[in-house]
Amino acid sequence: MNFNFDEIIDRRHTDAVKYDGMKEMWGRTDLIPLWVADMDFATAPFITEAIRKRCENPVLGYTCKPDSYYQAIIRWNKQRYGLEVEKEMIGFVPGIVPGIGMAMNAFTEKGDKVMIQPPVYHPFRWLTERNGRTLVLNPLKWEDGMLRMDLDAFRQQIKGCKLFILCNPHNPGGVVWKEEELKAVAEICYEEGVLVFSDEIHADLTLPPRTHRPFALVSEKARMNCVTFMSPSKAFNMPGLTASHVLIFNGKLRRKFRQYMDACELDLGHAFAFLAVEAAYSHGTEWLDQCLAYIQENIDYVDAFLKAHAPKIKVIRPQASYLVWLDCRELGMTQDQLNDFFVEKARLALNDGAMFGEEGVGFMRLNIASPRSVIEQAMKQLAEAYETL
Ligand SMILES: Cc1ncc(COP(=O)(O)O)c(C=O)c1O
Repeated sequence: MNFNFDEIIDRRHTDAVKYDGMKEMWGRTDLIPLWVADMDFATAPFITEAIRKRCENPVLGYTCKPDSYYQAIIRWNKQRYGLEVEKEMIGFVPGIVPGIGMAMNAFTEKGDKVMIQPPVYHPFRWLTERNGRTLVLNPLKWEDGMLRMDLDAFRQQIKGCKLFILCNPHNPGGVVWKEEELKAVAEICYEEGVLVFSDEIHADLTLPPRTHRPFALVSEKARMNCVTFMSPSKAFNMPGLTASHVLIFNGKLRRKFRQYMDACELDLGHAFAFLAVEAAYSHGTEWLDQCLAYIQENIDYVDAFLKAHAPKIKVIRPQASYLVWLDCRELGMTQDQLNDFFVEKARLALNDGAMFGEEGVGFMRLNIASPRSVIEQAMKQLAEAYETL
């Protein structure tokens, strides 16, 4: 079956953050929105179909998690990643960011040190600071045009921390970590007594020929010392359903987390959550293969276009995800000027690189998960703005 990713779907007035949130963010609505990390493609049809079918019964009562939900997660992880998961290791969380916040509260105390690797997904910093923990930074470094871990600094900076939040694969850099990086992190954190949260929300968006490596698979020390966060929300475009899960392989950690979640019944979920996850993981392979191929073509298009028409804006080609980290440092602008350039001149709404940490100054994050014609129009506007420089 062929899925149509070229279709333009009008998302305005659906309360979509990416569209209807533009006014609040930029005070205007005439920008092409290429910011919030969801896709402008239709949510995978077997997911919307499962929801439609459920609505044939008009009673949206309390809903339990069926065994088939757990089995779908187990199958997907085994088939796609060779990761063996048992039912008891799976816990529902209402979104990855809330899940990380809940787990942070379950496993650490106020004032504890939490380390992250900027430039990185900004809620890692928010969660740490807003929950009264102490932020420790281990900035990534540039190596052969890609962000990589600075493991020498990591060894020093992790001392005294209680928690390390790993973004695997990495947003906004699009990095699929090398096995040796993940192994080193596992070894150091285990020896230093630092728990690892591995946020693997972008795992299913790893672009072939690369493959995702779950942190829990790199060593037994990793497996016993991590909480893995996963969800079909990014890859199948259903983040509005807030249906995610944790995998915890260590029984002691699992009991601690369960106790925390049970205290306020934080893992209840909702009537559409479990059937959507099950549908994604049961019918998703063919759709996802085609979606990834489309994303890859959009990345190729943007890369070639900017090389030809705006060569001072460099594309950091993602190895995973549809988020493209644009290196704009050669434009020689301040961050305010750069933001102004994209909004006022190019009429594009991108994420400001600086929101991912000061290491993101000089960068912008471009979401290319839109129909090709939208990306072509966006590139045309960017080239016209570039001409005026
Ligand atoms: C690394 C990472 N984690 C988590 C999220 C958001 O997860 P959720 O919407 O499930 O809270 C995103 C969204 O862009 C992300 O990039």
